[in-house]
Amino acid sequence: MSARDTFAGGVAVITGAGAGIGAGLARHASSLGMTVVLVDIDAGAVAGLRAELEAAGGVAVDAVCDVRDPDAVQELADRVYRDVGPVRLLVNNAGVEQFGYLWDTPVANWNRIMDINVDGVFHGVRAFLPKMIDAGTPAWVWNMSSIGGVAVVPLQAPYIVTKHAVLALTECLHLEVRHAGHDHIHVQAVLPGAVVSNIFESARGVDDSDSEAVTAAESQRAAMLDIKAAAMDPVAAAEVVFDQAAAGEFYLLTQPEYVSSAMTERARVLSTRQAPQLRTERRFDPAKH
Ligand SMILES: NC(=O)c1ccc[n+]([C@@H]2O[C@H](COP(=O)([O-])OP(=O)(O)OC[C@H]3O[C@@H](n4cnc5c(N)ncnc54)[C@H](O)[C@@H]3O)[C@@H](O)[C@H]2O)c1
Repeated sequence: MSARDTFAGGVAVITGAGAGIGAGLARHASSLGMTVVLVDIDAGAVAGLRAELEAAGGVAVDAVCDVRDPDAVQELADRVYRDVGPVRLLVNNAGVEQFGYLWDTPVANWNRIMDINVDGVFHGVRAFLPKMIDAGTPAWVWNMSSIGGVAVVPLQAPYIVTKHAVLALTECLHLEVRHAGHDHIHVQAVLPGAVVSNIFESARGVDDSDSEAVTAAESQRAAMLDIKAAAMDPVAAAEVVFDQAAAGEFYLLTQPEYVSSAMTERARVLSTRQAPQLRTERRFDPAKH
């Protein structure tokens, strides 16, 4: 089935919809004929996107919700089912970055990225999935991992940890819905490669009283911003993800060749039991993918 046949007329709830990948997914969902619930901590961003989608003839709702707060996410789920309708697609997308050596990372920054990137996904699953199961109609859960969910990278350890965690969470969740016999629920992992967004600008760094630590963290930010210069448009990325989801793929890759090369490398390192090697070439070149 096409993405339009699969998703048109349904309700999509997208966390972190105020920017980047989430906004791209929302724009594409709306163009497919979905009602889109735009969830973010940035009220202005989701209000603006709602107005944009409505002006283009779409149906959208904006909701301010911090995915770190389980009660707020539960309240959001209750409100969506009461006021909007049963959810066909839940995208646990909200996520943040962190740069710097692990030993320089402030505890508050470690806790923040775990709370948003990992706990936020768990809160979304816990609040929405029981309702999706009870509705008995086909429904999809997408959790936002990353190419970083199958790679290891220095100076981004907390982020990489969260993306490996989201991938494992999603793989286990897929098995659990099969184990429980909920065959109308489709769990899928999204692994974006490089997509234009605000994530590297808004990433946290390290304590600014230690200049060496700051230099290391900011050099990694600069390297990632360099990758962003050649990154994919978020609406184009969304189209790829929706098409793969409708085709029944489990691993949804924005840039299939680029991301699957990282999957192959991960499998090679584990199967040969070699220590991870530092890479010198970091720049993402779309011409090669
Ligand atoms: N951009 C990429 O190349 C890339 C690659 C791989 C994975 N990802 C993943 O995609 C997801 C989206 O990232 P992006 O690059 O679009 O970033 P972004 O910074 O452009 O957008 C993230 C959005 O999440 C919102 N947000 C942050 N904390 C929140 C919270 N506690 N509750 C609700 N909303 C919150 C922000 O306000 C923002 O609107 C993340 O999970 C990220 O790890 C991105």
